Parts: sequence; C-alpha cells; structure tokens
Amino acid sequence: MPDIPIFPDLAGKTALITGGSGGIGAETARWFAYNGVRVTIAGRDQTRLDHVAASLDAISSGHAAIALDCSSADQLEAARTALIERLGGLDILIAFAGGGTSRPAPIEQVTERDWRSSLDNNVTATFLTLRTFVPDLKESGHGTAVTMASTAGRAPSSAPLGYGVAKAGIILLTQQLAQDLGPDSVRVNCISPSAVLTDRTAERMPPPVRQAIADTHPLRRLGTPADVAAATLFLASESAGWLTGATLDIAGGRLMH
Ligand SMILES: NC(=O)c1ccc[n+]([C@@H]2O[C@H](COP(=O)([O-])OP(=O)(O)OC[C@H]3O[C@@H](n4cnc5c(N)ncnc54)[C@H](OP(=O)(O)O)[C@@H]3O)[C@@H](O)[C@H]2O)c1
Repeated sequence: MPDIPIFPDLAGKTALITGGSGGIGAETARWFAYNGVRVTIAGRDQTRLDHVAASLDAISSGHAAIALDCSSADQLEAARTALIERLGGLDILIAFAGGGTSRPAPIEQVTERDWRSSLDNNVTATFLTLRTFVPDLKESGHGTAVTMASTAGRAPSSAPLGYGVAKAGIILLTQQLAQDLGPDSVRVNCISPSAVLTDRTAERMPPPVRQAIADTHPLRRLGTPADVAAATLFLASESAGWLTGATLDIAGGRLMH
C-alpha cells in the first residue's frame, strides 16, 4: 500500500466523488478506497470511469461508477436513486466535477455561450449536486461535503473570466451551506488549489512552462493530485470535526489569506 494517511473513522463510510473519472478526483477516490470507504465515482466519460473503477477494485471491493452530467438535475436525481438503493445512504459528498470550458479572453470577447458554460459546469453543477444529496448527508448524522474552487476564484487571475467567477461562487455556496446545515451536523468545506499537474494540465504545459509556473509559488513546485487528496481526506474525517465553512488554499503558498 502506498504511503497514505489512514483516518480510522472513515472506514465503512460511503462517498460519492464527482469528477472521479480523472485527475484530482480519481486520485482522491483511490485515497478514500485505501481508507476503507465505499466509493462511487461520477463523471461523463464511461471509458475514463471504467479505468478508474478498475484501479479502485484493485484496492478493495464495494466501489461503483456512475456516468452522469452534474449540470443535469434529472441525471443527478436518477444517480441518487441508484446510489441509495445500492448503499442505503451517503456519508461523504466530494463535489469536484468542473473545470475550464473556454480560453481566457478580454471581456469584450467573452461570448454569452462561454460565460454560461463556465457557470453551468462549475457553480451550477456544484449547486445541483449538493441540492440532490444534502438530504442524505443530513440523514447520515455525520454527513460532510467538500467542494472544489480554485485560486482563480480567490483573486483576479489570468484564468477565463467565467471560470474564476464560478469558482468564487462555489466558495460562497460552501460558506452559506456550512451555516445552514451546521445545526443538522453536516459540515461543508472547500478546497481551492493553485496549479495542479494532472494528465490534462500536463498536455497544456510543456516542461519549461511548468517550471515558470512552479517558480511563482513560494514552495517552487506545482501541486499534485496527492496534495489535494490528502487535504480532502482530512476535511472528510472526524479529525476536522469542528471545521466547517473553511476554504483550504492548496497552493504552495501562492495565496495567503
Ligand atoms: N488541475 C488544476 O490545476 C486545478 C486547479 C484548481 C482547481 N481545479 C479543479 O479541480 C477539479 C478537477 O480538475 P482536474 O484538474 O482533475 O481535471 P480533469 O482531469 O479534467 O477532471 C475533471 C473531472 O470533472 C469531471 N466533470 C467535468 N464536468 C463535469 C460535468 N458537467 N458532469 C460530470 N463530471 C464532470 C470530468 O469528468 P469527465 O471527463 O468524465 O466528464 C473529470 O472527472 C475541477 O473542478 C477543476 O476546476 C483544478
């Protein structure tokens, strides 16, 4: 087994990880599986899902994959029915699905379509995912959710305008739900990474560009999916039992709030 921290209270719990078909979400799913969690991954691409599901099955049993678009309320509801039928309940919701859907551009060149697509795929998808599964997190008695923002949602940046605004919306959504759901013992926290090297980001970043971006971080390296998985595991565990409404900057020191 790789060198992964174990939080004993996670064993036997159930988790849904949207965005689990690749990159950060896939690595996070494996870390939860190593912790004895029964993991369901969700994404749109069946081939990617199958690939990650096989890596989870190699760790332990009881995992599943669901193909769905998180910007569709109907698809989320159908997925919920299937998940609850199979597992009986949900303790942990990791809402990581999202990402950039357009290129950076000055506002005059941002099309309405690009703008709406960035918001749909990030803040609306996160809202719909939470709305669908919050009743199950309340029912759990120790439910917890972790959402996915970005440094692009923390301060102005060179990222696409709609993407940054959508990620900023996810931070406020997280804080609002932390306040509203606290009395139901549901904790809601947010992860906000800077540049993380995944297969997808590696394609866009030749090595000299990687080094230049790494050098903008005080720790002088890019993030890894493991950096994010470690923080997510902690937030989902009872070690973070009095932590809600927080946004963790997994950012190599690039952002200090
Ligand atoms: N990598 C970074 O540097 C970085 C930095 C800050 C924040 N983030 C955020 O971290 C999250 C994961 O990104 P990543 O870098 O790991 O990228 P990735 O490898 O492209 O993963 C994105 C994941 O989200 C899923 N997804 C996207 N839109 C979806 C939708 N509408 N419905 C269902 N699933 C959807 C994708 O599934 P399918 O491909 O199967 O559809 C995939 O599993 C994203 O929210 C991203 O904005 C990444």
